[in-house]
Amino acid sequence: MRARAFAKVNLSLHVRSLNADGYHPLRGLFQSVDWYDRIIVEDAETDSIEVPGGGAPEDDSNLAWRAVVDARSLGLHRQPTRVVISKEIPSLAGLGGGSADAAAALGLAARRFSVSFDEVRTLAVTLGSDVPFALVGGTAIVTGRGEFVAPQPDATGFALAIVVPPIALGTSAVFRAWDELDGPEGPAIVGADLPPALREFAPLVNDLYPAAVSVAPEIDEWRAELSHRWGVPVAMTGSGSALFSYFPSLNEAEDAVAAVPQGATATRAVRPTTKGWEPAD
Ligand code: C5P
Repeated sequence: MRARAFAKVNLSLHVRSLNADGYHPLRGLFQSVDWYDRIIVEDAETDSIEVPGGGAPEDDSNLAWRAVVDARSLGLHRQPTRVVISKEIPSLAGLGGGSADAAAALGLAARRFSVSFDEVRTLAVTLGSDVPFALVGGTAIVTGRGEFVAPQPDATGFALAIVVPPIALGTSAVFRAWDELDGPEGPAIVGADLPPALREFAPLVNDLYPAAVSVAPEIDEWRAELSHRWGVPVAMTGSGSALFSYFPSLNEAEDAVAAVPQGATATRAVRPTTKGWEPAD
């Protein structure tokens, strides 16, 4: 069984003060995009997790592997399983690649081990705050620590240029910096600067931006330079460090990507997708 697991972009992310459970309540507008990892879940003599091109751990800490093991523990069938992941989505960038892999693994494991979708849905948030969204995908408002996913009409008619600066940011470090800064609000992108499909959600804000900049000040230099070259506002996804802007078409997003300064870890022009993962041939 094979699947594609799509990256996500936080078009908006409001953060509130830390809860007793150690997580911050969120309200975000999440969007899946067509930048994807490939995952295979198949029969084997013994259990294994393989990531041939690197980019994720090949041990029990791999989120997709944990998804398979957790789903199997609920299943009617418990056969040994090989998981193979081909990474395309950069890690530690705020693009939710590990969460997407875990969601796709849950979806495939549900079929393989005869576990109901409702049961794997309850596992999702135990794997990570972004996994419940990744299981559904598309365009959604996400609340709680990430476990409440309210699908919205699919946002279409635009493309994004995404740039990953050469800066790896851990999510918990950025949330900690947000606490230390006393809960700042992020810069806003107003409706006039957004594609028509997103104007009803304006203004779009990422409250983690000031925190990410306090951890890695170079992010603001990248943002300012991209905004200067592209002539449009530039936002950050999640806890960073990936930055993005809106363009009316994929061609224009590709032109923007071609104008990125040297030194970026990755760049990609993408369109929104309507799913977080999908079975593949
Ligand atoms: O849920 P996940 O393992 O992806 O979260 C990673 C870290 O990000 C958590 O340990 C926590 O520090 C932070 N986090 C948070 N509030 C959220 C989601 C994540 O503080 N809603």
